[in-house]
Formats: sequence, structure tokens, C-alpha cells
Amino acid sequence: MVKKGITLTIKTINPLVKIVKIFPTPYELSKEFAEEMVNMIIESAKYSKPFTVALSGGSTPELLFSLLSVAVSVSWKYVHIFWGDERCVPPDDAESNFGMTMSKLLSKIEIASRNIHRINGEDEPEKEALRYSKEISLFTRERDGLPLFDLILLGLGEDGHTASIFPGHLDLFDSDKICTIALHPVTQQKRITLTGRIINNADIVTFLVAGRKKAEVVEKMFKNDLSALNYPATYIVPVYGRLNWYIDKEAGRLL
Ligand code: 6PG
Repeated sequence: MVKKGITLTIKTINPLVKIVKIFPTPYELSKEFAEEMVNMIIESAKYSKPFTVALSGGSTPELLFSLLSVAVSVSWKYVHIFWGDERCVPPDDAESNFGMTMSKLLSKIEIASRNIHRINGEDEPEKEALRYSKEISLFTRERDGLPLFDLILLGLGEDGHTASIFPGHLDLFDSDKICTIALHPVTQQKRITLTGRIINNADIVTFLVAGRKKAEVVEKMFKNDLSALNYPATYIVPVYGRLNWYIDKEAGRLL
């Protein structure tokens, strides 16, 4: 059967404010973004407003989380933490995004457990995707009938994936689901991921990208190479919000 091409029409209201910052090292990248994230949280707390953030997984955000864990000027009282995606493994599994965040950040800060919205990677994926979708709807604002996150952090895979939206699954940018099941193309590991429209509905979407291995994919995306049309990360185009790319020198070395 010939796979139908996906025609993606991504509407964006704003003339896409896309900020690209290149940093000498992952430390400086993480330090600057930690300061910005702390300021966003402080601003929200001034009006006792919940601040909803979906964290990225993988290894890049580990340094950011460690820096946030020692940020003394921030109260986490109004922060609600979600994940943009999770591997379908128990929380104590080395692969767990929640497990990594627990060790680098959550175990070191004062935050109410009711503000931590973990994806239960150990549960049956289809059921958990539904449960997590409902939890997101319950604890986030709404815009255009979709959950509205204040901030979504994203990483970038060498194949152009982001969250757990992998190449060949651009249909997840048309999905009317809040989150869904994905399969890692190499390991076949089951994942639960936010879908593209939810990510594009956020107020601020920030890619954190570091390391030599990301240089090629970054180059292809930023030089509008045709192959980037297969990258899910290419279709992260906030409809109303801001798009930030925080890249270290190594990942940006081909720009
Ligand atoms: C995950 C992520 C994924 C990650 C990229 C980059 O669960 O793995 O959410 O999208 O951000 O694969 O991963 P690294 O930061 O480890 O390079």
C-alpha cells in the first residue's frame, strides 16, 4: 500500500518570533536558560498564577535541572511540572525521564507532589495516554480548545525527532489527541508523547540542543535543507507563542 503523503498546514498567528542563541558551552546554555526559567516562575508567582511546564527528557536537560535545583530565589509553589514525553518504563528505570528529573531536580526542591504530573510509564500505555491527557486538561489553561502550557522544553534527536514524535509520524501534528503512543524507531521502545498541536499551542517553546552529534541535524534545519522536511522538529511552529533555540557551539558548529 502506498503511504499517503502527509500535507501539513500549520497556521501561525504571530510572525514567528524565533530566537536563536548560541552558547560557548552546555553550562552557559543551561545557566542562562535556568535564569530565564526562574524569572518566568517568579513572575507567575507574583500573581499567584500556576506556571505549567512540560519538561524534555534525554540527557541534555540534566545540567539545567541541576542548576534549577540550587536556585534559591525561586518558590516552586505555583509550578506544575509535566513531561513532553516519557518512556514506557517504571520510574526507577534508568531510561525514565521522570526518574532522571527526580534525581537531578525534584528530590532537591520543595514542591508539592500534587504539582508533579508524572506519566506513569509502568502502566498500560493506551490507558496511561488517556489518563495523562485528562490530567493535562485538568491542570492547564486552554486556548482554541487545546491545553495551553506556559512553557514546553524540547530536545532534538539526530534524526530530527522531538519529544517522541519521530520521522515518518508527522501525522502527530494533525492529531486531535493531547498525547499518544509512539515507538522509538531503533529500539522499538514504547513512548507516550505530547502531540504536535499541543506543543504548538504553548506560550513558549524552547529547544535545548548541545553536543557535536547534533551539528548535522541543526545545520540541515537552519539551512532549510530539503531533508529537514522529514524532521518533526521542523514542524514545531508555535501558533501564538515564542520559539527559542538554545544551542551550544558544538551543535551549532556547522552554521
Ligand atoms: C526523550 C526526549 C527526546 C530527547 C532527544 C534528545 O525522551 O528522549 O524527550 O526527544 O529530547 O532525543 O536527547 P538527548 O538530550 O539525550 O540528546
